[in-house]
Amino acid sequence: MDPKGKVVVVTGGAGGIGLETARHFVDAGAKVAIMDIDPAALEMAVADLGGEVLGVACNVSDEASVEAAFDEVVSHYGQLDVAVLNAGILRDGLLIKVDRETGKVRGKMSLSQWQSVIDVNLTGVFLTGREAAIRMVNTGCKGVLVLISSIAKRGNIGQTNYSAAKAGVETLAVVWGKELARAGIRVASVSPGFIATPMVIRDMKPEMLDRFRKMIPVGRLGKPEEIAHTIRFVVENDLICATDIEPSGGLKL
Ligand SMILES: NC(=O)c1ccc[n+]([C@@H]2O[C@H](COP(=O)([O-])OP(=O)(O)OC[C@H]3O[C@@H](n4cnc5c(N)ncnc54)[C@H](O)[C@@H]3O)[C@@H](O)[C@H]2O)c1
Repeated sequence: MDPKGKVVVVTGGAGGIGLETARHFVDAGAKVAIMDIDPAALEMAVADLGGEVLGVACNVSDEASVEAAFDEVVSHYGQLDVAVLNAGILRDGLLIKVDRETGKVRGKMSLSQWQSVIDVNLTGVFLTGREAAIRMVNTGCKGVLVLISSIAKRGNIGQTNYSAAKAGVETLAVVWGKELARAGIRVASVSPGFIATPMVIRDMKPEMLDRFRKMIPVGRLGKPEEIAHTIRFVVENDLICATDIEPSGGLKL
């Protein structure tokens, strides 16, 4: 699909990979809507992107909020061609923490730590993917869904919640790619490696980040625009469906 003139939604579009993806599609001549939970960041991103970008307040883990947000996009633009399901959070921690001196457990991943990541990173993708697909079908658009997973889907120490959610996201892309093909909708996932965004620089422990940097075969973190480029490739290439692409600089985890 040529994105020129098409309507593209990016969730979590007010920062990091989402903002660069929105910029990429604005530059490609698409009509872009960004959805985000952070109203201040959303306002700044809309001003930054310029043009006719629509900013929509949305919590991807809240069903009513997601339904209203997609209704707003369709009533504004009249159609929906591409949805990039990118919103995500980190709440890292070990399943259990064992005290080195006593040999006893002194901490555990809380249920809220688990649930918050599952709610945003997995349920959020389910809700936004479902509502996007409904509107693509009802407006007669042969659209594309691009789901953002992560190489952490293979299982990363300290990321019980995040790895489980991202493995689920990759699987959703396969199931939906098969189910929605009959409606003319393509679905695929993109699994980035470590990318220099606020999520990584702000939310990851520096020692963990340093360890990963040394493990990346190309010797550096990825750039958000390199992920945006991969997402655009998925949109443009009509043969990509029910599969995953890993822009990770060779890091497998
Ligand atoms: N940065 C990386 O190294 C990396 C690697 C692999 C995968 N990813 C994935 O890429 C995606 C984007 O990550 P990023 O690094 O740009 O993160 P980021 O923190 O820089 O940006 C995430 C955006 O999502 C928004 N958001 C958070 N919760 C939301 C919610 N409930 N509803 C709506 N919006 C919400 C935030 O406000 C923010 O604008 C995430 O799904 C992340 O898991 C990132």
